[in-house]
Amino acid sequence: MKRTLPCGALRRDHITKTVTLAGWVASTRDHGGLIFVDLRDREGLAQVVFDPAQAPEAHSQAGKLRAEYVVAVKGEVTPRPATSVNPDLPTGEVELRATDLEILNPARTPPFEVGEASRVDELLRLKYRYLDLRSRRMLENLRRRHAMARATREFLDQRRFIEIETPLLMRSTPEGARDYVVPARAHPGAFYALPQSPQLLKQLLMVSGIERYYQLARCLRDEDLRADRQPEFTQIDIEMSFVDQTEVLDLSEALTCHVFRAVGIEIPGPFPTLTYQEAMDAYGSDKPDARFDLKLVTLDSIFASTEFRAFASVLGDGGTVRGLRLPKGASLSRREVDELESTARRYGAKGLAWFQVLPDQLKSPIAKFLSDEEQDGLRAATEAQDGDLLLLVADRFPLACEVLGRLRLDLGRRFDLIEESEWHGLRIIDFPLVAYNEEEKRVEPMHHPFTSPKPEDVGLIETEPLRVRAQAYDLVLNGVEIASGSIRVHRRELQEKVLALIEMSAEEAERRFGFLLEGLQYGAPPHGGIAFGFDRMVAMASGEESIRDVIAFPKTAAAVDPLTGAPAEVEPTLLKELHISVEPPADREEDGDARD
Ligand code: AMO
Ligand code: AMP
Repeated sequence: MKRTLPCGALRRDHITKTVTLAGWVASTRDHGGLIFVDLRDREGLAQVVFDPAQAPEAHSQAGKLRAEYVVAVKGEVTPRPATSVNPDLPTGEVELRATDLEILNPARTPPFEVGEASRVDELLRLKYRYLDLRSRRMLENLRRRHAMARATREFLDQRRFIEIETPLLMRSTPEGARDYVVPARAHPGAFYALPQSPQLLKQLLMVSGIERYYQLARCLRDEDLRADRQPEFTQIDIEMSFVDQTEVLDLSEALTCHVFRAVGIEIPGPFPTLTYQEAMDAYGSDKPDARFDLKLVTLDSIFASTEFRAFASVLGDGGTVRGLRLPKGASLSRREVDELESTARRYGAKGLAWFQVLPDQLKSPIAKFLSDEEQDGLRAATEAQDGDLLLLVADRFPLACEVLGRLRLDLGRRFDLIEESEWHGLRIIDFPLVAYNEEEKRVEPMHHPFTSPKPEDVGLIETEPLRVRAQAYDLVLNGVEIASGSIRVHRRELQEKVLALIEMSAEEAERRFGFLLEGLQYGAPPHGGIAFGFDRMVAMASGEESIRDVIAFPKTAAAVDPLTGAPAEVEPTLLKELHISVEPPADREEDGDARD
């Protein structure tokens, strides 16, 4: 029997026609006599009826059907009786009266019901991913991903970009994560690194004169995973010659809008621009969720000569006092405020000072340490209204921002301040070129070492490196960093200056990416680019929390693929050929846990 129509395509127009459907049994109901089967294929569900009076043989076969059997059914399309019309289903007005049934393949009882993912452990879903992908939700996600990829290609093609593939087996790219490496059999002791991004090669393509490059590029990074991070993920990777920052951002914003529009989402433009400093000051984050207007305030000048020890010592050490006003927050109970304080401590703060704004006073355990001027200043700076709650953190700038930025998001969610149905894009510019890594006690690039400083700040490289701003930018959508890029250094001398700033020796630079530095000397045009986290875009457009739900075969948080069992040991003979000997981990037990 040959399929003549997808299940999901069945409509009133087909009534009286004889058709053959094929698909998976979604459910069967035996109504003592009639057997009803919901048949599923990629395009939807159709109801098939087996009537013992009409087709005794097909009916007795239908009695054997179980969930996920693959069948072909021939029959006549008839209108459903008025009482059984299903207005929620596109095929809900009709049914197929079966005359013939062929079981193409029986199926074992599935470990979970297709479409019931929300009630199933994710590990089980990933182990039986092919069953999980049969669900409407996952299928829709994959289709949306396809539509967004297609829209990307269409958009960039129209703007004269050339899609070029770059190798997976290559040298390390310095994006800041750990490399995945592949041993090279023909070169004992040597390894390829899988690319963390095509960064160096796309820059060399500009040296080649390609002018406008893009790639839906797979990137591999051995880093700590979260809901929005995978060890392999996909970027819309872009590089352009003879452009400035505004041109790259204009194109990127238009691409974002085009790609979301292709799946029915209208993102209003133009995206407002914030400098990194403005974003940190107002939202405590370089990827602010600006769908709600709860802004941080800087209180340094108000407490410049305060007697309150906690603030005075922080300010004395060059730190900052920042505050957040929660409208009507004074109604929070003491216990709730204490919880906020312990959350702030969990985020790394030394404490959380709070004030209930009452008509005649600021009520707080620390009010007695503050002068009247300080209290008035605090009210004025935060534009406090009666009934509000003020939350203050004194600390080093990055930590104060981070703690209040996270509290801001928590409060936004908790008090329903975020307009979830809204789409809000932002451009963030003027990132610092470098940041100080407290743990490693050294200066490191905020983006990557090929990012160009702003011309007017080049003079600060030697004197005040932490104040040098970069021609680096991000696109942020609803508080998620969806793209990141920069104008690159295209002259060797400046590149060497930047490398010296991040304390990378000439030898190390030569060893790691001497080929790029050399390439820059053979006529590199001014160039810049950006890369989008494609998985994140698809997840957002799909309303999914995790990018795993928009990737066909993702890995767990432990970077394991439960379906294929990767990573796995390899044959000893292969290791021998590779000249590799494996030292068993000191603690086998722990290794086993990590893989579960
Ligand atoms: P960056 O490292 O910021 O820049 O990456 C660009 C974008 O990729 C997404 N992203 C990820 N998505 C899923 N899983 C991950 N592990 C992951 N890591 C990053 C983010 C991010 O904004 N070569 C530069 C780009 C350039 O300068 O042109 C780069 O890779 O959405
Ligand atoms: P303490 O003197 O540590 O008992 O703190 C008194 C109050 O000030 C408590 O509510 C603390 O949470 C708060 N506090 C202490 N240090 C800080 C700080 N660095 N920033 C904000 N509030 C603080």
